Parts: sequence; structure tokens; C-alpha cells
Amino acid sequence: MKTLSLNGIEMPALGLGTWQLAGQPCRDIVRAALESGWRHVDTATIYDNERDVGAGIRAASVSRDAVFVTTKVWHDRLDPEDMLRSCEESLDRLGLEQVDLFLIHWPNGHVPLKEQIEGLLEARARGWTRAIGVSNFTAALVREAQDLAGGQLIANQVEYHPFLSQRTLKSALDAAGMALTAYAPIRKGAVAGQQAIRDIAKRHGKSEVQVTLRWHMQQDNVAAIPKTGNPARLAENADIFDFELSEAEMAEISGLGSGEGRSVDPSWAPDWDAD
Ligand SMILES: NC(=O)c1ccc[n+]([C@@H]2O[C@H](COP(=O)([O-])OP(=O)(O)OC[C@H]3O[C@@H](n4cnc5c(N)ncnc54)[C@H](OP(=O)(O)O)[C@@H]3O)[C@@H](O)[C@H]2O)c1
Repeated sequence: MKTLSLNGIEMPALGLGTWQLAGQPCRDIVRAALESGWRHVDTATIYDNERDVGAGIRAASVSRDAVFVTTKVWHDRLDPEDMLRSCEESLDRLGLEQVDLFLIHWPNGHVPLKEQIEGLLEARARGWTRAIGVSNFTAALVREAQDLAGGQLIANQVEYHPFLSQRTLKSALDAAGMALTAYAPIRKGAVAGQQAIRDIAKRHGKSEVQVTLRWHMQQDNVAAIPKTGNPARLAENADIFDFELSEAEMAEISGLGSGEGRSVDPSWAPDWDAD
């Protein structure tokens, strides 16, 4: 399994997304993932499944230290005291003493960014998280946040797949020494119908989803967190380390992207980068 080295932290490049999973199916898939070699699980307060994710981790025959767990604070709790309470509540629900990565889920201009970063740093200082980062931050916000954090942020979790290029943001993250963690990495399954990806998949005897996840894995400092609640797809989505895309195939897939392919754009979203 590929890992990314970020400010002294090793983050597995492939993780399991858990948005829209809950209850026993969530516990079962988290357990199945860990027992079949996945080492990274992504959750958030707003997913309302931290108890199930934690139960799945405990049920798996894998030691806690071997698993990279990410959770996030919602954007209405970014005042530092409230952020710390949210982090403590997440740990309580997860049944963990510490997560591996604690993220601000969405930027919120109503709380000074300096205070938000102080909250993240304090959560880490208290030992509640090994690492800190952000999500849905634009290039300008990344530069400002990483500057305020003195280089301590390790990742920005954003939408990224073959139809959304994220060129401007990726350059800013590279300059800031941060990973891009791709959410909706297979565009919720929509890559399956794409002809160029289908042709590449046929050449390699793989599915379009596998080719897309492989495309993520072959980029520097990119992680991907595909969600599935289906055990067969769990195996399919991890079976991507026995083939390699050529430079031309990587470029062809990257060429499908633009600034237009965004699927997650709520009313509270920031003013996104153009491409
Ligand atoms: N930070 C943020 O604001 C943010 C926003 C959105 C998501 N996220 C995180 O990112 C994770 C992934 O994003 P996402 O869930 O929106 O989208 P995604 O991972 O791109 O797609 C998930 C969808 O694809 C299907 N799927 C999975 N594997 C497949 C395969 N091999 N073949 C065909 N279809 C497949 C899943 O269905 P089945 O379950 O039926 O397999 C599900 O409907 C989330 O779960 C969450 O953890 C974060």
C-alpha cells in the first residue's frame, strides 16, 4: 500500500470514504476493509457515523496503530473552544484517544483564520490528533492557512477526479508541502461511462474505477478516499497496485479535466479556483 510522507506523518494514499454509511453496514465495511489490507478511514462529525466507524475499527483484527483515522469539525464550530469540544466529542464517539488527522471540514470566513489554526494546533498539542489539516480550502486559503500554521498542515481534502482538474490548487499545495486528498475520487462512479478511461481500462484488463484510482495513486502527494458499502467493490478498489499507467495514459486522463466538473458545491462553499 502506497503511503505519503508529510511533515513526519505517514498517510496511506488509499483510504475508505464513509459518507452516507451508517449502522451495521458501516461497521461491517470498515471492519472488512481493515481486515483486507485497507489502512485509512475517513469520517466526519457531520456524517453522523463516528460511533459506527469506531466500532468497525475495534471489531477488526488489526491494531489501532496500523490504522490512519481522519475526522473533521463542521464549519459552524470553528471558534477554537468549540472546535476543541467538537474534537473531544468525536474522540468520544469514535472510542479513540487520538485520531491521526483532524480537519476543518469547510472554511468559514466568520471566524478569523488565525483562531481556527490556533484551535487545530491546540488539538494536536493536547494529543487528540497526530496531524492537522483542512478541507475545501482554495489555493489562496491554503497559502494563508499554512503560513499561519507555520508549515504544520499536512493535507487539504477536496473534490478531485478526472473531470475536475484542480491545477491551481495542486500547485499551491505542492508549494505548501501538503497533500491533496481526493474526495469523490471516482466522481461517485461516473468515471465508469467515460470512453477514454474505458479504452485504457480494456488495455490493462481493469475497470474504469480501478484505472481512475490508479491515476490518483501515480500522482505525487495525492491520496484518494473512495467510498463503497459493497465488499466486492472494496476488493476491486484496492486491486490497483499490480499495473501501471503510461505517461501518455496519465496525460490523457488528466486532459479530461477542467474547472467545470465540480459535483459538490454547497451554498457555503468558498469562491473556488478557476481550474
Ligand atoms: N471533505 C468533504 O467535504 C467531502 C465531501 C464529499 C465526500 N467526502 C469524503 O470522500 C469520500 C468519497 O466521496 P464520495 O463518497 O462522495 O464519492 P466517490 O467515492 O467518488 O463515489 C462513491 C460512489 O461510487 C460507488 N462506487 C464505489 N466503488 C465503485 C466501483 N468499484 N464501481 C462502481 N461504483 C463504485 C459507491 O457505491 P457503493 O457504495 O454502492 O459501492 C458510491 O455510490 C466520502 O465517502 C467522504 O468520506 C468528503
